[in-house]
Amino acid sequence: MSKMYEPNKGIFQNPVFKDMDDYKSLVKKFDDDYADTWGELARDNITWQKPFTDVLDESKAPFNKWFKDGKMNVAYECVDKHAKERGDSIAILFEADDGTNIKISYKQLAINVNKTANLFMGEYDIKKGDRVVLYMPMILEAIYSMLACAKIGAIHSIVFGGFSSQALRDRIIDAKARLVVTADGAYRKGKPYMLKPAVDEAMKSGCETVQNVCVVRRNFETIQTEPKDSFYDEHIQKQSEKLETVWHDSEDPLFLLYTSGSTGQPKGVQHNMAGYILWAKLTMGWVFDNRPEDTFWCTADIGWITGHTYIVYGPLANGTTTVVFEGVPTYPDAGRCWKMVEQHGINQFYTAPTAIRMLHKTGQDEPKKYDTSSLRVLGTVGEPIDPPAWKWYYEVVGQSRCSIVDTWWQTETGGHMVSPIASCTPIKPGCATLALPGISAQIIETDGEPTPIGEKGYLCITKPWPSQIRTIWGDDKRFVKAYFGDCKIHGKPVYFSGDGAMIDESGYITITGRTDDVINVSGHRIGTAEIEASIKYSGHVAASAVVGKPHEIKGEGIFAFIVLKDEGSISKDDLKLELNKILKADIGAIALLDDIIIVPDLPKTRSGKIMRRILRSIVKGEAITQDTSTLEDANIVGIIENLCK
Ligand code: WT7
Repeated sequence: MSKMYEPNKGIFQNPVFKDMDDYKSLVKKFDDDYADTWGELARDNITWQKPFTDVLDESKAPFNKWFKDGKMNVAYECVDKHAKERGDSIAILFEADDGTNIKISYKQLAINVNKTANLFMGEYDIKKGDRVVLYMPMILEAIYSMLACAKIGAIHSIVFGGFSSQALRDRIIDAKARLVVTADGAYRKGKPYMLKPAVDEAMKSGCETVQNVCVVRRNFETIQTEPKDSFYDEHIQKQSEKLETVWHDSEDPLFLLYTSGSTGQPKGVQHNMAGYILWAKLTMGWVFDNRPEDTFWCTADIGWITGHTYIVYGPLANGTTTVVFEGVPTYPDAGRCWKMVEQHGINQFYTAPTAIRMLHKTGQDEPKKYDTSSLRVLGTVGEPIDPPAWKWYYEVVGQSRCSIVDTWWQTETGGHMVSPIASCTPIKPGCATLALPGISAQIIETDGEPTPIGEKGYLCITKPWPSQIRTIWGDDKRFVKAYFGDCKIHGKPVYFSGDGAMIDESGYITITGRTDDVINVSGHRIGTAEIEASIKYSGHVAASAVVGKPHEIKGEGIFAFIVLKDEGSISKDDLKLELNKILKADIGAIALLDDIIIVPDLPKTRSGKIMRRILRSIVKGEAITQDTSTLEDANIVGIIENLCK
C-alpha cells in the first residue's frame, strides 16, 4: 500500500472537520437520519423566504424533489446576502490576460448583477424559465450574466468558447434559447481571439427561437453586426441598480450544461436551484476549508461544470473571494500561476492533472521563485492524477505542507462526491479517498453485489443527493436510461456514474476511469460516438472506430481506426488533415484526432458490433485477453496489431 500523508493540522484554524471522528460522526448522522440531516443543513445554509415542507420526495424516483415548496433565490444567496452583511469584501478578483486586475466587492457585484438582470428583462424581454445561451470568454460580464439569470429565474446554458459554431447551434436549438450573450472575443497569450464570428455562423440557420444577441465588447476587434445584435455597453449604463428579489421554488431549474455521453448527441444536464447551491456551498467549506476571508482560485473555464460550481456558485455562496482569470497558466511564462498565488495571497488552488503535468514539465522549479506560503489546499479534478504529477504538486507546489484534495465528481453530480476533506482526511497519491458525508458511493457489480477489495467495479451512488442531475433537458426517458439503466441493488435501479473504481482494505476509493465510450481528453469528456458521427462526413471514410490512447500531457488523446471506401484513395496524413478540419468545424478544437491508422476492416462481431475493447487494448500495447471467438473475422485483430506496431 502506498504511503499515507496526514493533513498538516497546524495550518487549519477551527475547521468544520477537526479530525476523522468529526467526519465519522456526520456520516453516522446521515446513516441514522438521512432526510433530517439534509434538512438541517439546508435550513442552516440557505435563506428561505418560505420554508420547505418536505426534505426529499422520492415518490416519482428517479425524478426526486428536494426541499419541496421552499422559496429561495440563488443570486440572493451568492450576492445580495453578502452585499448586505459585508458589502465591501471582495467577491471577484479578475485578472486579465495582460495581468491587469479588477476587484469587485459584493456591493458592486450586487449592482452589476441587478443591472444585467434589468437589461435582460427590459431590453430582451427575458422571463423566468426562458433559456439564455452564454458563449463567453472568462470576463466579468459572463459571471454577471449567469447570476442575472439566476436572479430572475431564467435558465442559463453556457457553451464553452472552444466549441465550434455547429456545436453552438446544436445547443441553441436543443434548448430553444431566446437570448444569446457573447463577446466580440477576448485575449489569450497577449493576442486577441474572436467569438462573435462563430455566433454569426451558428445563427445562419435553425436558431429562430433566438430574439436577441447581446454582445459584450472586450477586445474591440472589428466584428459584423447582424439585425438581432445589440451591445451590452450601450444598454447597461441606463439600467437601474435596484431589483427586488423574486423568490423561486427550490426545484425551479437553474441551468443546463451540455455534456457528452455514449451516443452521438450531447445531453443537456439540468440542475435545479436549492439542492445545487446547498451542495456547492457546503463542499467549498468542507473539502477546501474555504472561508469568507480566503482567496480561492479555480483555473477552470466557466464553460465546464468545474467553472460553474467552483468559480461562481460555490465560492460566492460561501462569501469568499473568487479569482476569475482570462489568460492561460503558461503565459507569459510557466511561473504565471505561482506569481498570481504570491500577488493575491491565494489560499486554495484548484486545477486539473493535465495542467499540473504541463506546469511540471515546462516549469518544474518555477514555484520556488515565488512566495506561495499562503496556500493551504491544492485541488485536482477531471481525471486520475499520475504519481509523478502528484509528487511534484505535493512537494514543490505545496512544499509538503498543503493538503491535496483529489476530487471525484461529474457534470451530473453538481459538486464533489468522493474526495478528501482537506483538514482531516489522510491522503494517498492518486486516490480520491472517501465519499463525502451524505454521499452514498458504492462500488458494485451490475447486480448490486459489492466488488471485492482491489478489483474494478462500477461506481454507483445509491441514494439521491441534493445536487443530483434532475433530468436531461427535453428527454426524461434518456435520463432514466443513461443513469439508472445499468446497475441495480435488490432490483432497485441506482445512479451509475459511468466510471470504474476500486476500493482498498481501508475503504479508500480509487477511480480507474470511464467504462463507457467516453474519452477523457485533458479532463474534458468527449464521446467516441460524437467523433465517429463527424468523421462520417468525409467522403473517403467507409467506417471508423475511435478510442482513447494514453497521452503524456492530455491524459488521453483521440485515436481513430479508419476503413477507407477505396483503398489507397488518400494518404494517412492527408486524411488526418481532412478529418481534423471536419472535427474542428463540427465540434471544436478539443475533438481533434491525435493520430489515425488506416485499416482494412474493424473487429466486428457477427451481429456487426465493433469490439472497441480490443482496439483499446491494441492502442495501449496490451496483450489481447478478450474472447475473439465471436468475431466475424478473428484474423483482423492480428492484422491491425501489426499495422499499429
Ligand atoms: C468525469 C466527469 C467534475 C469536473 C470535471 C469533469 C472524470 C472527474 C476525477 C478524479 C479521476 C475523474 C470521471 C468523471 N473525473 N474527477 N478526481 N479522478 N477521474 O467533469 O466533464 O462531467 O467529467 O471526469 O471519469 O466521470 P465532467
